[in-house]
Amino acid sequence: MHLAVVACGDRLEETLVMIKSALILSRNAIKVHIFAEYDLHLGFKQQLDKWMAASQGTFTYQLYPITYPENYNVEEWKKIFKPCATQRLFLPYVMKDVDSLLYVDTDILFMRPFDDIWSFFKEFNSSHIAALAPDYMDGEASWYKIVAVHTYYGRLGLNSGVMLMNLTRMRRFPWIELVTKFYEVYKLNIPVGDQDIINIIFHFHPDKLFELTCDWNYRPDHCRFMSVCKVGEREGISVVHGNSGVYHNDKQPVFKAVYEAFRQYNIGDDPRTRLLQQMRENIDKGPNSKCGNVKQIEKQITVFEERTKLTYS
Ligand SMILES: *[C@@H]1O[C@H](CO)[C@@H](O)[C@H](O)[C@H]1NC(C)=O
Ligand SMILES: *[C@@H]1O[C@H](CO)[C@@H](O)[C@H](O)[C@H]1NC(C)=O
Repeated sequence: MHLAVVACGDRLEETLVMIKSALILSRNAIKVHIFAEYDLHLGFKQQLDKWMAASQGTFTYQLYPITYPENYNVEEWKKIFKPCATQRLFLPYVMKDVDSLLYVDTDILFMRPFDDIWSFFKEFNSSHIAALAPDYMDGEASWYKIVAVHTYYGRLGLNSGVMLMNLTRMRRFPWIELVTKFYEVYKLNIPVGDQDIINIIFHFHPDKLFELTCDWNYRPDHCRFMSVCKVGEREGISVVHGNSGVYHNDKQPVFKAVYEAFRQYNIGDDPRTRLLQQMRENIDKGPNSKCGNVKQIEKQITVFEERTKLTYS
């Protein structure tokens, strides 16, 4: 299984916490691909080498500089968007040897084994090239509906923070031709940059998209005013997306509480007490909120415990 992330600026620690959350409950081996500015490489290496040594071959990683594909005219892109913001659009052409991966933003936390989201590839039909979740759940208040001046996917638009990509199929599609074409047409009207391009492409090619439910990309907007992600509320949240800096400020205490529990957890500690219990304590300290359904991670930790009984008994 392959996980890819693009890390720039002050996102080193946040990215490491994301990777840690992917490693805690996963069953099969994960290779993590990190595209990062050079000055972050040493920081990644220092932590990841330790995890790799302790992982008995279930975790490997590779660091890359920000890389653009050869033979494509991307000079203009480099001038307009920050390099890190567009890197993800070019992954199919930069990672030519990889068949499929899960791309995530740095502010993602896995509440279930990585294997669970990976298994959606099996549900792809022959048209699907990627899987994403809607940007919002309440049609009336959708950011795309209110603000966007360009076309976008579906009723609600897509959020690009969690994206399963079959790179083989994206290369054949061919993805890069559309990225460049739509960029030329829409370049003055795409405030969110790469996410907007992704929305425009799937607007014109909806059959290529496998839609994930909102619990696989659960953001503060899903519970800020009211709970609009019913499946997350009912079954628990699968993947948390703390966008707008909520792990680092006090605007959404539950998101920060969950992040802090992962941040403080050391791989190898008992996840029942050191992760779940800590998470609950952190959440209980804050105000009541509709955001805090940790049912999934609770369930997953119980399964994990069954599997690794010897370790903690
Ligand atoms: C991606 O698509 C290719 C071509 O259809 C297929 O051979 C491959 O198995 C797919 N990868 C995954 C993980 O499903
Ligand atoms: C695959 O599913 C999409 C809906 O997600 C649909 O539009 C498309 O026609 C399907 N493709 C095939 C070959 O069944």
